Amino acid sequence: MTGGRPFFRHHVFYCTNKRPENHLRGSCAHKESVKLRNYMKARAKEMGLEGVRINSAGCLDRCERGPVLVVYPEEIWYRCRTREDIDAVLTGHLRDGIPVERLMLGADD
Ligand code: FES
Repeated sequence: MTGGRPFFRHHVFYCTNKRPENHLRGSCAHKESVKLRNYMKARAKEMGLEGVRINSAGCLDRCERGPVLVVYPEEIWYRCRTREDIDAVLTGHLRDGIPVERLMLGADD
């Protein structure tokens, strides 16, 4: 990093990795992460959130806790299982700058 402000105000990586049905670790795609990620992206656009980028990600290695996403530059992890969870992150964290504690994943979770 060479200093200055980040290119995006918030950069979201939402795991949409899909494994075979019987895989021991499961995967976020089997927990509706593709639909939730699409919803998040559409709602962010509708809300006119500037400087917010929402990308699909491959496995983030927290599969058992999925569906998971991580927000940079803060590196705050969330488990968002419903549209209501997504709305809370969009309005609380990405719009108002207040992370949503009840949905956060800690380093040991
Ligand atoms: S499949 Fe989503 S974190 Fe691994």
